[in-house]
Amino acid sequence: MKLEALPSIDGNYQLQSYDKTRDSFSWEQVEKEFSWHRTGRINMAYEAIDRHAEGALKDKIALHYRDNNRSESYTFEEMRQLSNRAGHLLRSTAQVQKGERVFIFMPRSPELYGLFLGALKLGAIVGPLFEAFMEGAVVDRLEDSSARVLITTKELLPRVPVAKLAALDTIVIVGDMPDETYEGVNMISYNAAIQEAPSELQIEWVDREDGMIIHYTSGSTGKPKGVLHVHNAMIQHYVTGKWVLDLNENDTYWCTADPGWVTGTSYGIFAPWLNGATNVVVGGRFKPEDWYKTIEDFNVTVWYSAPTAFRMLMGAGNDIIQQFDLKSLRHILSVGEPLNPEVIRWGKQVFQMRIHDTWWMTETGAMLICNYPCLEMRVGSMGKPLPGIEATIVDDNGVELPANQMGNLAIKRGWPSMMREIWNRPEKYDSYFTANDWYVSGDSAYKDEEGYFWFQGRVDDVIMTSGERVGPFEVESKLVEHPAVAEAGVIGKPDAIRGEIIKAFIALRTGYEASDELIEDIRQHVKKGLAAHAAPREIEFKDKLPKTRSGKIMRRVLKAWELDLPTGDLSTMED
Ligand code: WTA
Repeated sequence: MKLEALPSIDGNYQLQSYDKTRDSFSWEQVEKEFSWHRTGRINMAYEAIDRHAEGALKDKIALHYRDNNRSESYTFEEMRQLSNRAGHLLRSTAQVQKGERVFIFMPRSPELYGLFLGALKLGAIVGPLFEAFMEGAVVDRLEDSSARVLITTKELLPRVPVAKLAALDTIVIVGDMPDETYEGVNMISYNAAIQEAPSELQIEWVDREDGMIIHYTSGSTGKPKGVLHVHNAMIQHYVTGKWVLDLNENDTYWCTADPGWVTGTSYGIFAPWLNGATNVVVGGRFKPEDWYKTIEDFNVTVWYSAPTAFRMLMGAGNDIIQQFDLKSLRHILSVGEPLNPEVIRWGKQVFQMRIHDTWWMTETGAMLICNYPCLEMRVGSMGKPLPGIEATIVDDNGVELPANQMGNLAIKRGWPSMMREIWNRPEKYDSYFTANDWYVSGDSAYKDEEGYFWFQGRVDDVIMTSGERVGPFEVESKLVEHPAVAEAGVIGKPDAIRGEIIKAFIALRTGYEASDELIEDIRQHVKKGLAAHAAPREIEFKDKLPKTRSGKIMRRVLKAWELDLPTGDLSTMED
């Protein structure tokens, strides 16, 4: 689906020429911009906040925070102090040490950001959990990471089965204290302890290869896996923030993602602050009016969001836009799903600028293939690889394919923000790489003669719904826990707004009859057990599901049924 090429966009962008920069690029050169290159004192939180607080940006706003009840702004110096206090609190009450996992399970708030940075300042590995997770999702992640410290709220604590979590010994509660107590578990009140915590903190300097953050993400099989990133990733967060987001110290930047997902940390915390930008964080649910009002009220200049959100805004109509003054905006970007050409055209019409697509994933830690502001845009293409990144298309044997042939999108191992570990599963980590050191992404794509990459789909069964990545196995496992469900197979079904929706095929146990009530009950079961976004929007009952002789549900066949496509090779299917 090749569409018209569009001329490059006017503007004074930091990356002036993609080709020239690529020719002369080296990661070492970027590294030299960090003082740790000389001092050896490395810590992401220091680079993102303290460095600015010690310099000219001291009194500049680092964070604008807003939700239904609060509206607060913090300068870099105030963020330095807030995170120092939070670090003290974690050190003195929970004895948090380098390398320990500190999980954060709470809605967005200034406290979340302070604690996040405070934990990093102690050298801890932060594990952010999306606030909508229910018990099943929380347990899997806390157990696998053997987290000792959890930061949460009274409202979310009931979703944490504390007694089941052997490693957990300290819970920090932000806000009102709950009534529950647990044997052997220290319950700390953030609100009480933060008052006494001093605002100066001895930062734990780390090695650039020390662990910094774990994001759990889904594959097509097995439980979610813990993707570990290290402090070294800051090199790439910084340079992509500078060249792709085009951030500088005069920008007010808004990333709409929650820090429970990788976009909300790499580009909701690290990239903007490493570049000294003012960061806007908005809590609460999506409402078109509120979104435009956020841009107007804070004079947002650079905006990073996702195709589903743009499609929803598009669906809300252009009249709403007329009510707001959006002239501060100068650059808009998108990630997480294919960006439809019609969305780009809509963006051009209503914002007078093109939305720039960026491609990357949890495992890659930062952007890899992008539409740079300085690059001529091929609408519908993800763009070209970042300088310093080698990308290609390989076949299933890891052999590189020529231009215009569809295959597996692969990246040469060794970029700064690459994941360093799948927590507890070294063999899984190795399985991502070919013998020639290509990281195989799980996406299919092709590259054209001019080096632009075109996304075609997922190779595996991973579902992208509303920009959120959902593993079918996790949903199927939750479904079969329901008393009525004998077997379940889950697929992504194309959807005009959400990219894909989750559809479940279910074979019922004997004695159960299909009904609307049962459908609703099964949906609620997933909603309450896993997360609302993981609950199937559609459920269809079948007498029997297609399975291999070894008993694996054949999702490929379910998908073919759903989309009226040929089912392909059925030789492994049971009779
Ligand atoms: C998909 C989100 C098309 C892709 C940062 C990838 C995209 C998965 C794009 C990673 C894009 C991401 N165009 N598809 N520009 N960006 N994807 O780990 O399938 O939540 O493998 O990371 O999202 O999702 P994840």
